[in-house]
Amino acid sequence: MNNYTNEKQGQDQFYLVYMPMVDKTLTEDQILNDYTDGVVRGNILEFKLQISNLNSTLFQALKYLSVMRIKGKPVPKNILLVSLNDDKCFVYDSGNYLSDIEQVYIGGASTNNASFVGGNPLQTIDMSSMTGQSQIINLLKQENYTKINIDVNCIVGWAEHFYRIKTGVKVRKEDFIGDGSGLHKTIGEIRQPNLFKDYIYPYTGANNEEFGYLMDKLNDNLTKKNLGTFYTPEIYAEKSLELLREAIKRVPQGNDYIILDRCAGTGNLELNLTDEELSHTILSTIEYYEYRVLVERLGHKVRHIIPPIETANTFNKGLVNGADALTQEYVENPIIQQYVQNERCTIILFENPPYADTTSTEHQKAKKSKESSVWKNSWVVNEMRKSVSGTPLNDLGNVFIWSAFKLYLRQDTDSYIVYSPVKYWKVQKLIDKKFMGGFAFNRKHFHTNIDACVSCIYWSNENDNITELYLNAYDIVITPQNNTKVEKIVSCGNLAVKRIYEKYSAKYYDKRKFNLSSEDGILLGKDGKECGSGKKIRLKPLYAADMCGYMVCHSSGFDNPDNMSSLLVAGRFDGNGFYLHKDNYLEKLPMFAASRYVIYNRSWTERARIMKSADGYVQYGKDVASGKCTPFLLKCLLFTVFETQNHCREFVGSDGRTYRNEFTLDTTNGTTIAATDMSRIKMNGEEKVLVDLWNGVIAEAKKTKEYDARWNYGVYQIIKELDTTYIDSNGDIQYNYTQLHTNLTTLKQKVKDYYLKEIVPYLFQYEFLK
Ligand SMILES: C[S@@+](CC[C@H](N)C(=O)[O-])C[C@H]1O[C@@H](n2cnc3c(N)ncnc32)[C@H](O)[C@@H]1O
Repeated sequence: MNNYTNEKQGQDQFYLVYMPMVDKTLTEDQILNDYTDGVVRGNILEFKLQISNLNSTLFQALKYLSVMRIKGKPVPKNILLVSLNDDKCFVYDSGNYLSDIEQVYIGGASTNNASFVGGNPLQTIDMSSMTGQSQIINLLKQENYTKINIDVNCIVGWAEHFYRIKTGVKVRKEDFIGDGSGLHKTIGEIRQPNLFKDYIYPYTGANNEEFGYLMDKLNDNLTKKNLGTFYTPEIYAEKSLELLREAIKRVPQGNDYIILDRCAGTGNLELNLTDEELSHTILSTIEYYEYRVLVERLGHKVRHIIPPIETANTFNKGLVNGADALTQEYVENPIIQQYVQNERCTIILFENPPYADTTSTEHQKAKKSKESSVWKNSWVVNEMRKSVSGTPLNDLGNVFIWSAFKLYLRQDTDSYIVYSPVKYWKVQKLIDKKFMGGFAFNRKHFHTNIDACVSCIYWSNENDNITELYLNAYDIVITPQNNTKVEKIVSCGNLAVKRIYEKYSAKYYDKRKFNLSSEDGILLGKDGKECGSGKKIRLKPLYAADMCGYMVCHSSGFDNPDNMSSLLVAGRFDGNGFYLHKDNYLEKLPMFAASRYVIYNRSWTERARIMKSADGYVQYGKDVASGKCTPFLLKCLLFTVFETQNHCREFVGSDGRTYRNEFTLDTTNGTTIAATDMSRIKMNGEEKVLVDLWNGVIAEAKKTKEYDARWNYGVYQIIKELDTTYIDSNGDIQYNYTQLHTNLTTLKQKVKDYYLKEIVPYLFQYEFLK
């Protein structure tokens, strides 16, 4: 008998004594996966101090195996339930519980297990005996797995596993899900397992219709980038039919009408159309397996699918010949043209166009490759270039929107119902059409993990000149019910979307020359340090006595906000900002404050709807001149000195100059501009709390051994240089100065509260945020 007081103790001891006999290379991190007590080769282990109910402990292990299947991980054959204090191990074969493993469980694995009925263990091993110990070693060495069935719950996990293994090798979607039912007959891994032959049973579905809603997630990585595929959740698709049906109501008496979706994917938007509506629908999509599912699902009900049937040359490197909506061939396709040319036919486009903004963070992160922007050379983009220039051309979705109005809609009663981030109307002004109604949906539910606003707007093909519009916002709430997830659409109010006309850079960036400046200063990286060589320099390194820093508040939107806003003691190597002058720096601070908006307000309704504007510049200019704004500006100053995106640091530059941080309240080495101006603020209770917290931070900072008495420290420099860490014996990060770290954490939280309450309302009032 053992006498462990907690499971972790016994578990650690187990691995300590057994692993040297099994596999010395396996680390604890590799063993402790997916919240299990350990997976060693073909074994899953579950430890209890004393197992009192074998069934419930077994069920817990089965739930872990269910998660492993969903994640595309091989399911171990052996289940070892270890009862630590009585030195017993109960062995089960997971193959006998396949139907339990192939369920999806909601909630913690260790709860609600009491009612499970399992079989008897195949073996009960006495771990105190030598025979038992060698049996355990023998089991742990085994590498047997239980084959699982592929279904909608696990196919994405296995696809990710497949593409991960194949990194660096050219594989396409067909290599994973290819079937024999179409003319292109590559048989994929799920149907003829090779890599996964020990882990999965061959999938026997004749086609891929079952995976219709997941087809975007099954794309190989390059196709994902190229096609900008983010499917619409069914519940949103259904909601948007309300807009479509309004458009159908406008079809003039006696007219035929068509509903055209050039980028239908697997037809999610159309799934809940009535048969009558489908009989007016024309669909196409560029990706071969989407096309095949589209044909299966809706082919027999719609008016046309393009191409109408699969022929020997339909399959073209994973794409569908003739279905690329951006080609001249498609635009001139006679099937569609017969309706476009017919005056007695009303055209309604209903689409969720592919989303691929080449300037977006996602795109940048996914590593730009030439192949992922081939659409930029398409015929439609070249047509668009004749009348549109600049940033709108970077977004694939815009190409669909522009071409809808230019190439398909002709009459006032024609309509476009389109899903897209609203910037095409709000800031890029791609179209000026009549707004008939619209919804705001949470982008997170479109197979991404970004909380942001996607508009779905019903436009009439009539010109109009509105400056704002209102969207009914809906989120999706998922609640567990009887081991399934129930989705509900919930209203989140009516959201205003206002057009933006002026940019910060045009109205607020300070373009004045300094009294006396030289170009022999230094340039910095985003981290506030002097940047090394190898950077693409896009700014002259100015130095001037009346300069107090460099500010970047770039871009109207909030994509990649940390990259787009900076406050530094000298110029940022890649520019996009302006040098701050001591005489008027204060009135520039609201731009910096506004650039932090989505960081402190992460609600999905804000990102991609609220943007930065200089539209309030006339009123703002007047209020700055009259002094009416001064209390607000001083609040912005207080916020700026405590904001961690203020990356001002003090140091000696390679030019031999000492760079001072003017945006800190630390005056140990002489006063700063911020400290001098701050004396003008009449502090309220919250502001006093912030300053007290700061005093606590700087007092603790001075006690650290890294503190350098030459500098006035700001919050960021303290975080980066003084709030140091070490790795403890468990491999966890620990802070060297607990009190300093605690004070910093509290300050950060309070700064956020202060920002939302005291700064944000003014940012909206003066339209820095709009
Ligand atoms: C955002 S998804 C929308 C799919 C579906 N309508 C939905 O809402 O779930 C965009 C679709 O456009 C397709 N697509 C991308 N580029 C295309 C092109 N040039 N021509 C036609 N379809 C394209 C993608 O394969 C993808 O299925």
